[in-house]
Amino acid sequence: MEFLRHLVLLVHLTGFAILFGAWVVEAVNGKRQITRLMNWGLAIAGLAGLALAAPWGIEYDLNYVKIGTKLVILVVIGALLGIGAGRQRKSGSVPPAIFWSIGVLTFANAAIAVLWR
Ligand code: HEM
Repeated sequence: MEFLRHLVLLVHLTGFAILFGAWVVEAVNGKRQITRLMNWGLAIAGLAGLALAAPWGIEYDLNYVKIGTKLVILVVIGALLGIGAGRQRKSGSVPPAIFWSIGVLTFANAAIAVLWR
């Protein structure tokens, strides 16, 4: 059970890596677009996160305030990806506030996961 939980955690981290990695590529190459990989990363991190939010394979209590905060942030990132992709389709570019918020909020969620004990 514990091994399975660690496996799901690995999938969760892979989702984070895909989302944040795809965002960093766009930030560095200067195009600042929203790409399909970002949606995939968010979906993978979100699904695995929900699976981890149930208390199985652990002997300690989960911090549901922290998990709830991460869930709210994930929903906001999802909304920004949707709105940003819509703007991109119409005008060819993503408003900078939306693009940068996606990266900052993704990083904030990882920081919350690791630093909030
Ligand atoms: C962009 C979104 C997210 C990012 C970047 C992220 C990042 C992380 C990271 C880096 C860890 C490892 C922390 C550690 O083991 O010390 C983690 C663990 C975890 N995350 Fe997320 N996460 C995200 C979304 C979510 C969501 C939406 C949920 C639940 C609804 C969630 C629930 C959890 C749980 C339950 C753990 C493991 C806690 C444990 O077993 O001790 N995460 N997350």
